[in-house]
Amino acid sequence: MADQKRQTILTGDRPTGPLHLGHLAGSLANRVVLQDSHDQTVLVADMQGLSDNANEPFKVRDNVLNVVADYLAAGIDPAKTVICLQSGLPALAELTMLYSNLVTVSRLERNPTIRSEILARGFGRDIPAGFLCYPVSQASDITAFKATLVPVGADQLPLIELCNEIVDKVNRLAGRVFLPNAVALVPAMGRLPGVDGIAKMGKSTGNAIPLDASPQALAAAVQRMYTDPKHLKVSDPGTVEGNVVFAYLDAFDTDLAGLEELKADYRRGGLGDATVKRRLLAVLEAVVAPIRERRSALSSPAMRDFLTDILREGTAKARSVTGSTAAEIREALGVFVL
Ligand code: TRP
Repeated sequence: MADQKRQTILTGDRPTGPLHLGHLAGSLANRVVLQDSHDQTVLVADMQGLSDNANEPFKVRDNVLNVVADYLAAGIDPAKTVICLQSGLPALAELTMLYSNLVTVSRLERNPTIRSEILARGFGRDIPAGFLCYPVSQASDITAFKATLVPVGADQLPLIELCNEIVDKVNRLAGRVFLPNAVALVPAMGRLPGVDGIAKMGKSTGNAIPLDASPQALAAAVQRMYTDPKHLKVSDPGTVEGNVVFAYLDAFDTDLAGLEELKADYRRGGLGDATVKRRLLAVLEAVVAPIRERRSALSSPAMRDFLTDILREGTAKARSVTGSTAAEIREALGVFVL
């Protein structure tokens, strides 16, 4: 990163299923690099997970340790990154309560991320109040750590914007600037599409590749990937833009010169989809193989205590940080101090 100043980083994931290659390209890979030179905390956002899984609370609970295992498998090192559990940090709930007075319902309803999620989840007019308010809770996550940098996918930008509006309000009410604005760190390449070309990857749509996909699952996913529908014969010129196979190559192929050559050949015509897919499969296998191996070692029942200890230790650290920020905010917002 150009800015070498030590930043306070906070980011998180809902424990609603296995993390996938979209998470890796979107923010996990960034976190693995950033943990060496910054103060980083990652949050297993189980309370936020409940905001759209109220009917399946046990699914959220049962995925908590899976997400921790996914983090470690992806290369997040608990010696460098604090890994904590949202529900273990009561200060976050307190801040959410205070902040919810600083935003209007119409502001929340206008949030583009929320709007598209409401559509995707089919809530219609029956939007859970907690779901509408989860951006407020996310602002609590970010501000409780006084985070300055938030590595997220581009879909989260409207949430960071709302967080900064809350930050400005709190600072204005307090009459002093003590909460920093948060800067989102989004990957340059944009969002990785699902294997079917649909913009959002998800378990429910079955178009995501899990971080620990088997070689067979990888091959099947690559086989399924959309290419250029007009590229019927090998000799036809092909289009790279909007081509799912190239989107994955852009995200994971580190041989940039080789990739540029491949794109030129594809555009010119004479390069078959099968050849491009073969290259992608090799690239993905190289990315996934070490993650798969570590993930499998962490999957044994004997590892549950190890993962729980990591989470417990990280949450204890985070509880102290978030507790003191909440005390400061309570005082700044004029809450009676006993
Ligand atoms: N909303 C994020 C997601 O769906 C998860 C999240 C929760 C988060 N709290 C956060 C991200 C704080 C960044 C900062 O992936």
